[in-house]
Amino acid sequence: MNLQISSFDEYEEVYNQSVTDPEGFWAEVAQNFQWRKPWKKTLEWDFSKAHTKWFVGGKMNITENALDRHLATRGDQPAIIWESNDPEEESITLTYKMLHQKVCQFANVLKKHGAKKGDRICIYMPMIPELAIAVLACARIGAIHSVVFGGFSAQSIADRINDAQCNIVVTSDGSFRGNKEIGLKATVDDALVQCPSVQKVIVSTRTRTPVSMLKGRDVWWENEVKTVSSDCPAEEMDAEDMLFILYTSGSTGKPKGVVHTCGGYMVYATYTFANVFQYQPNQVHFCTADIGWITGHSYIVYGPLCYGATSLMFEGVPTYPDAGRFWDVIDKHKVDILYTAPTAIRSLMGFGDKFVENKDLSSLKTLGSVGEPINEEAWNWYNDNIGKGKCPIVDTWWQTETGGIMISPIAGITKTKPAYATLPLPGIQPILVDENGVEIEGNSVSGNLCIKFPWPGIIRTTYGDHERCIQTYFSTYKNLYFTGDGCLRDEDGYYRITGRVDDVINVSGHRIGTAEVENAINMHLGVVESAVVGYPHDIKGQGIYAYVICEKHLGDLDLTRKDILATVTRVIGPIAKPDKIQFVSGLPKTRSGKIMRRILRKVAEGETGNLGDTSTLLDPSVVDEIKAGAL
Ligand code: WTA
Repeated sequence: MNLQISSFDEYEEVYNQSVTDPEGFWAEVAQNFQWRKPWKKTLEWDFSKAHTKWFVGGKMNITENALDRHLATRGDQPAIIWESNDPEEESITLTYKMLHQKVCQFANVLKKHGAKKGDRICIYMPMIPELAIAVLACARIGAIHSVVFGGFSAQSIADRINDAQCNIVVTSDGSFRGNKEIGLKATVDDALVQCPSVQKVIVSTRTRTPVSMLKGRDVWWENEVKTVSSDCPAEEMDAEDMLFILYTSGSTGKPKGVVHTCGGYMVYATYTFANVFQYQPNQVHFCTADIGWITGHSYIVYGPLCYGATSLMFEGVPTYPDAGRFWDVIDKHKVDILYTAPTAIRSLMGFGDKFVENKDLSSLKTLGSVGEPINEEAWNWYNDNIGKGKCPIVDTWWQTETGGIMISPIAGITKTKPAYATLPLPGIQPILVDENGVEIEGNSVSGNLCIKFPWPGIIRTTYGDHERCIQTYFSTYKNLYFTGDGCLRDEDGYYRITGRVDDVINVSGHRIGTAEVENAINMHLGVVESAVVGYPHDIKGQGIYAYVICEKHLGDLDLTRKDILATVTRVIGPIAKPDKIQFVSGLPKTRSGKIMRRILRKVAEGETGNLGDTSTLLDPSVVDEIKAGAL
């Protein structure tokens, strides 16, 4: 497959071509994939209706591109290398041949239990090879996977299963994370009490912790694969058939199911993988994300496999058994490309250089960063201590909704600048607009980041609620896709993402809606009202700060604080637990009843000096109390 740009001049040339003739450009890229039937029309779009179709009428199956196509040329090459949470446990290598066989086998298990094209299947698993196999097996038979990150609560799983009406759940008994053992099946069992659509639960063994197995509903993965053949022809899919749903947080309401489709997503995830990381044959690509997030979907599973790469999958955490684990993994598997999040870099930086100093990192060629803005200090530490000044850093900006990387250096080709995502990839047309949607032209400017032309990986809909997709992404500014991010463009035309401009916060690279956390807090007994904002956090990027009004008679506030954390953990999951809870007797509201979050944000940031105009507040005295009690 010849997808790679090899010089900056070529980038400029290709970029210009991709803007002058986007359809021609993407049609040429798409020729590099295996299609059962060619598309009739490259693109159909109308942003006012959130309508985008790529490769209209084309027929394919993404697993033929990710697996079958490679069998003749690299069947014995490792497709997935798996590294356990426990450094003493042997790692597992699955060649393309083996992975193909296992995917086909499990696809047959899904079929045996009634799965068919178009069904939604929920996957709630640890980072073990079976997770990647389950994802690909769904794609093989045309079932739509909805992977739910293992850190979400039973309630969150139930909400997602019900929203998509899933009929099958694939899970494991439990998972290992550092020195913890976490029950997954038990959480699924709690969720399923509320989920009448689910007929079958397939459970793979990881921790072999005792679990309840319900006759007629629950079966063991290991037993089932023994009963089926490993021959499973891929289902023929339309380019615009749904491939997966992935739930993500927005500024309002419950998480929404972002939908990606087969053809465009395949082309986009693969094209961006090949170019941004400049992957070379036989290299080992190590993306540290969990497959429960978009980064894992695109850059552990689909992008690397469609490109015939070797993808390393790590079950554990960066600090177990000690803060040198990533570096041990890199040394052990001779990793060429490391793709991780600023939060991990900052955390490991905090443990000091001694965990890095004696490790052999000489195999590394390229470093990547994703999920949140990377501060200069972390960038420099990454560059000096991990890359030893020799590895280009690609700071990749993108979103669940974009399917793949949008603005990023191309490794070794684009000149980097600490904390800058630099330039748009070919085919991506970013623009900055002011609050009225007027384009801000020229350089040395900042504004709200929008994209003005579709790319193949763009969100197609929010599952079951297309209107919400229109409202969220295509209504704020006419004829533009609005990202929700603020951004500056410097004197060189380089882009730097400055963070969300809506009520979404980014905690350790995880997207969390403030409204969701508020709803969870408000469910707690005795809570009258709450308001949640983000504040700068040294390691996590942003922390969660909650202002809570309680009924008077609550008593011990320290205990109440812990109780509230328990409620949030139960409703959403531990990732949404507030870092700080300040009890207040009122919230700063305008006369029309709107909470002035600007004030709450400033107090949370520790900036109590200049709160701006507070004259429109109903009761300005609450501000003094809030300032006085700031944590
Ligand atoms: C933020 C993760 C700065 C941004 C792939 C975006 C970033 C949100 C970067 C999407 C980056 C992601 N620099 N900010 N390199 N990458 N973000 O959907 O605010 O989990 O809107 O996708 O993360 O988060 P999501």
